[in-house]
Amino acid sequence: AGGSVFECKEYLFKVLVIGELGVGKTSIIKRYVHQLFSQHYRATIGVDFALKVINWDSKTLVRLQLWDIAGTKISHCKQKVSENGFLERTGQERFGNMTRVYYKEAVGAFVVFDVTRGSTFEAVSKWKHDLDSKVKLANGSPIPSVLLANKCDQKNDSSNNTTLMDNFCKETGFLGWFETSAKDNINVDEAARFLVENILAND
Ligand code: GTP
Ligand code: MG
Repeated sequence: AGGSVFECKEYLFKVLVIGELGVGKTSIIKRYVHQLFSQHYRATIGVDFALKVINWDSKTLVRLQLWDIAGTKISHCKQKVSENGFLERTGQERFGNMTRVYYKEAVGAFVVFDVTRGSTFEAVSKWKHDLDSKVKLANGSPIPSVLLANKCDQKNDSSNNTTLMDNFCKETGFLGWFETSAKDNINVDEAARFLVENILAND
């Protein structure tokens, strides 16, 4: 009875959240999806999932399936039996094959580091490389990815690294970067919006 029918598009996007241990991946997702934050740290085991439904515009619905991947360094050791019958460790792989499984069919990614721990920034290129080597868009290009400089509420120096970060993103192939705080809810929605815009542009 009455009313008119509108065309509507629905999307389901798989988005990865990766980065070193304890940088705030789970916290960012919790903030984004549930508007919650906890100071308490519980390491993610393997992978967790969350769904965020976005009423993008009057004719577009976006479901973001967020894959919260543990930053734990899962080392896979290789072993062989030596000639005299001993078991020998021959090497370790930093990233096991699990990320390849987790990354499958993702169309976007956040790589997160912790602004208070330099080592987590140094690991960003490794994560980005792992990502680009294991997942690609149907047309062969890398999936859109955004760099998140998290825990910016704890940054004690007010130094401005904007140019440096912009250049780093260009060199490493990030679309852009955001200073975020899951704690104080800074830039989390903005970063997600920016990534989704870019994912939609690839459609
Ligand atoms: P793994 O699952 O082990 O890889 O860690 P994670 O990246 O999921 O980190 P998680 O979200 O569990 O956060 C680690 C710790 O950092 C927790 O104690 C959080 O409360 C804290 N934390 C996360 N985000 C922020 C933030 O924006 N600001 C501050 N001050 N603390 C944060
Ligand atoms: Mg986690």
